[in-house]
Amino acid sequence: MGVGEPGGAGGAVGAGAGGGPGGESTVVIQASTVSKRFVSYRNRATSLKERFVRRGGPAGEDFWALRDIEVTIGRGQTVGLAGANGSGKSTLLKVLAGILRPSSGSVTVHGRIASLLELGAGFNGELSGRDNVYLNASLLGLSRREIDRLFDSIVDFAELRHKIDDDVKHYSSGQYVRLGFAVAVHVDPDVLLVDEVLAVGDEAFQRKCLAKIAEFRAQGRTILFVTHSLDLIEQMCDRVLVLESGEMIFDGPPAVGTKLLRQKLGSLPSDGPVDWQYATVRPRSVGFSRHPDGPTTVQFDPGEQLVVSVELDLGEGAPEAVYLHAYIVGQDEIPIWMMETPPGGFRLGPGRHVVDFAVPHLPELLGAFAVKVHVSDAATGVPVTTRRFDELFGVSGTHAGGLLKVDYEARLRG
Ligand SMILES: Nc1ncnc2c1ncn2[C@@H]1O[C@H](COP(=O)(O)OP(=O)(O)OP(=O)(O)O)[C@@H](O)[C@H]1O
Ligand SMILES: [Mg+2]
Repeated sequence: MGVGEPGGAGGAVGAGAGGGPGGESTVVIQASTVSKRFVSYRNRATSLKERFVRRGGPAGEDFWALRDIEVTIGRGQTVGLAGANGSGKSTLLKVLAGILRPSSGSVTVHGRIASLLELGAGFNGELSGRDNVYLNASLLGLSRREIDRLFDSIVDFAELRHKIDDDVKHYSSGQYVRLGFAVAVHVDPDVLLVDEVLAVGDEAFQRKCLAKIAEFRAQGRTILFVTHSLDLIEQMCDRVLVLESGEMIFDGPPAVGTKLLRQKLGSLPSDGPVDWQYATVRPRSVGFSRHPDGPTTVQFDPGEQLVVSVELDLGEGAPEAVYLHAYIVGQDEIPIWMMETPPGGFRLGPGRHVVDFAVPHLPELLGAFAVKVHVSDAATGVPVTTRRFDELFGVSGTHAGGLLKVDYEARLRG
């Protein structure tokens, strides 16, 4: 918690760096190929002898908390940062705030950045709340006089007047967060970074914080906040970033990102799976031919072989085994028949793959038909995505629309 320290992270952090009148920049945060490695010392050599013996060998296991993060955040955006526990959200915020130095890559921040980071960060427990307010605000470049002017408002916002002269080591978690957030929003930041700690506050305080974030948003300030609340992302954000094991697996519209998250969390999507462009398995194209290696064709006769070839592109986080349903749809999207991969699906690595569905003898159909592909995780059955292709193939048989032909009579009563 507390405010971001100026400098560090190889970037310009602090008021006026590239921002301000005259040099107005629309990019507020730029992170390029940012990686953060932590060294795990579980097996660290302890004695001098061991160190000597191990010299040249690895000093500890490398652990990549962030890998090649590329992100550009424009002025005025409200961005949600989501992902499972341990995915790297807090690490990314700290790197952007200049509190942690990236192992590689660079971070540039234009404007004054204030942050409410993990519990306890940024406060000195031996000092009173009052002294910590001065310390934190001055780290952001506020003068003593400016802090004097803001002090009462900060304490009132935090609702901690009765506690302000106690050492913060005796504060409760919620009290820490109140003070940290109060300072962060009072220093007139251009960029506000907020970790999930807000959830520590009681409901009334959370409401107050969210109102403040909404106010900042309306003022055109830039906000990046960590949350596990998909509802909050949908309500407040212009954009969502999703981290998984230190990698950014999604950067885009909240409506799509929350679908992806719901899928990741195993809760079935409420309104269908992820748009195919953003899915981990992307159905890229469909083609029709008489033979898997033959030329593509769009016109077939009944009795001929039809091969429907679906090209898939597998990205990061794709299921190990992919299950496909291919529906052949006729007029008005009526499904005519369906084809599936064998039980257990296909194990496909990253990259492009083509799945061929071969129909040895086309039935008596007449009309134009399209293909709709559903992709799911073969292990769990969880849907990944759906794509309805525009490409059509025609069959010149006798059954119009491909509908089933049954015997019937139409009679008028009476
Ligand atoms: N100082 C550190 N030294 C070693 N490993 C660390 C350090 N800080 C974080 N990690 C590891 O980096 C990974 C990412 O941690 P981080 O705190 O960024 O996750 P998070 O997405 O914020 O998770 P949560 O939702 O639980 O807050 C974790 O596996 C964590 O154990
Ligand atoms: Mg965290």
